[in-house]
Amino acid sequence: MPLIDSKALLIHALKNKYAVGAFNANNMEVAQAIIEAAELEKSPVIVQISQGAIKYAGIKCISSIVKTLAKESSVPVVCHLDHGVDYSVVVKALKAGFTSLMFDGSSLSFEENVKITKELARMAHAAGIPLEAEIGRVPDSEKGPLTLEEMKKYYTTPEEAKEFFEKTNVDSLAVSVGSAHRMKVQSAELDIDRIYEISSMVNAPLVLHGASGVKDEHVVRAIKAGITKVNFATELNKAFTNSLKEYFSQHPEIVDVRKYGESARKNVVNTVREKIQLLNSNNKADDVLKYISDNKFFESDKNLNEIVE
Ligand code: G3H
Ligand code: ZN
Repeated sequence: MPLIDSKALLIHALKNKYAVGAFNANNMEVAQAIIEAAELEKSPVIVQISQGAIKYAGIKCISSIVKTLAKESSVPVVCHLDHGVDYSVVVKALKAGFTSLMFDGSSLSFEENVKITKELARMAHAAGIPLEAEIGRVPDSEKGPLTLEEMKKYYTTPEEAKEFFEKTNVDSLAVSVGSAHRMKVQSAELDIDRIYEISSMVNAPLVLHGASGVKDEHVVRAIKAGITKVNFATELNKAFTNSLKEYFSQHPEIVDVRKYGESARKNVVNTVREKIQLLNSNNKADDVLKYISDNKFFESDKNLNEIVE
C-alpha cells in the first residue's frame, strides 16, 4: 500500500497505549528486514532515514527503496526523516516524498529552536505532513556511557516541553528522559515520573530516542507513561554487523554479497520482530488502517484534545 503519514498512526498508538517502532534503515537489506518483520508481526512500522543515511545512500535512492517496499507491503509504513538538523535537508525530504519529518534543533537556543521548528511545522502541515521536534537533548554516548549526573544535564523539563509544544505546533515531541544515542549495551534506566509529568502537560505523542540502550522493562513503563514512538538504530546495526562477522568467521572463502547479505538481513528481521513485540504494536496493522479511514487528519483543524478525548 502507499506510504502513510505518522499523524494518525501515533495518535492511535497514544489512545491505545502501545508504541510504534521507528527503525533506522541505512541500506536496502535493513529496509527490507524492517518491513518484513512488520509484516510477520502484522504491525504498523516507521522506517526512518537519518541525515547520515541520506549522505551515505542518497536521498532519492534510499527513500525510493522504502517507498517501493511499502507499496508491496500489506502493513502501514511511514517514511520518516530522522534528526533533520539542517533546514534544507528537512525541505528536501518533504520534496522527496517523506511522509513524516523531524527537525532536530536541540543544539540551538530555546528561542532559535522554537523559531525554526515553528516555521518548518507550518511548511510541513501545508503539505499534509507531520513534524517531530526535540526539546531538551538526547545525548550521544559514543565516547562511553554517561553517568546519571551527566545525563541529568540533558533532561527535558515539563515546563519547557509545554512552552515549546504550544509555541511550535509540532505533532510529536522527542524528549530527553534518561536515554542516550548509540549505546551498545542495554543498561539505561529512564526517569519514568518525568515522562508522566511531561505527558500530563503536553497533549501529544512523545518520542523516545536512543532506545537501543534502554532496559526492556523501562521501555514498557515509558509507553505506559506516554511514550508513543520508540527509535532503534544501534540494535539494528549490531544485528547486521555481528551477523556478518560471524558469517565471515565461519565461511572465510565466500565472496558472494548475496550469501552474507541474506544472513545479515535475517538477523535484523529477528531483532525488529522482538522490538515490535516489546512495544506491543504487533497485530495492530488492521486497527490502524481502520482508524485512518474513519478519521480525517489535517483536513480539519481538529484540536488534539478532541481526537484523544
Ligand atoms: O534517532 C535514532 C535513534 O534515537 C536511535 O538511537 O541508535 O541509540 O538506538 P540508538
Ligand atoms: Zn535519535
